[in-house]
Amino acid sequence: MTRSTAPGKVYLFGEHAVVYGEPAVPCAIERRATVSVERRSDDRLRVEAADLTIDGFAVEYGAGGTDGPEIDVSDGLVSAATAYVDEAIAQARDAAGEDAGFDVLIESEIPLGGGLGSSAAVVVATIDAATRELGHELDRAELAERAFRTEYEVQDGQASRADTFCVTSGGAVRVEGDDCRRIEAPDLPLVVGFDGGAGETGELVAGVGALREEYGFASDTVGAIGDLVREGEAALADGNIEEVGRLMDFNHGLLSALGVSARSLDSMVWAAREAGALGAKLTGAGGGGSIVALDHMEEVETALELTPACEEVFRAELAEEGVRR
Ligand code: MEV
Repeated sequence: MTRSTAPGKVYLFGEHAVVYGEPAVPCAIERRATVSVERRSDDRLRVEAADLTIDGFAVEYGAGGTDGPEIDVSDGLVSAATAYVDEAIAQARDAAGEDAGFDVLIESEIPLGGGLGSSAAVVVATIDAATRELGHELDRAELAERAFRTEYEVQDGQASRADTFCVTSGGAVRVEGDDCRRIEAPDLPLVVGFDGGAGETGELVAGVGALREEYGFASDTVGAIGDLVREGEAALADGNIEEVGRLMDFNHGLLSALGVSARSLDSMVWAAREAGALGAKLTGAGGGGSIVALDHMEEVETALELTPACEEVFRAELAEEGVRR
């Protein structure tokens, strides 16, 4: 049995626009997915997933294998998770040059589809654990690249390297196209509000793509997010937290204009701002899921807890360490 764990992430700036080559700044956070992998004597794949929400319900399903799924996977989120794991195992098999079968156990503190990097964490930890189970050790660069290819396949060619690079390397990172690196960031007091729901990343990314094709101003909005990210990087480098917060607010507005916010996300964003947060925005693909607010004053946490749309509030500590064994 081989085990790997990878952190979740929040975006300070730049989700969606990063898919079109604009820069983005995600940060890894101390909520982890742990994947345990054991080689089977046949070539089948069996995946068991537990605790895929903060509430922690258990789901169990089979995936892949020569005979197809062991049980019917009808829940949309579960079938999306299955697709990521199937593709991650395909990458591990390719890296090791062996069509091995596996029993895979996923334990995650990161809600599935909640905007906090659950799929990237599961993909990175699965590829890392499965390749090591087959006696191969990938360096972080190859691991991040194979994890990116996994998301790219599952999301029909619309994915950036941001999530997978961030959870592989840990810390705060900057991603622009295939230029991915860690950056210095001041200690940011971040609080996350989670609405208990989820968005479907592939559909949301495709929706922004369609809007961009149809309207020039949607394309301009993507460019404006890129400009904002560059301002945000300068504010981070100067340690100007107030400016970081102001730019997070702008970023939320621009993401709303691209149609990826939701009433639940807007209500949590406004509750955090009205309670004195320096800034607040949705994080990840949107459509439901999570917001990130800058400043974890008690007033902000309480305001989020009292927001009917909010199911869970937690402080997000920066995860300095990415994937680990
Ligand atoms: C999802 O966490 C982030 C998106 O920008 C998609 C991607 O970068 O692949 C929406």
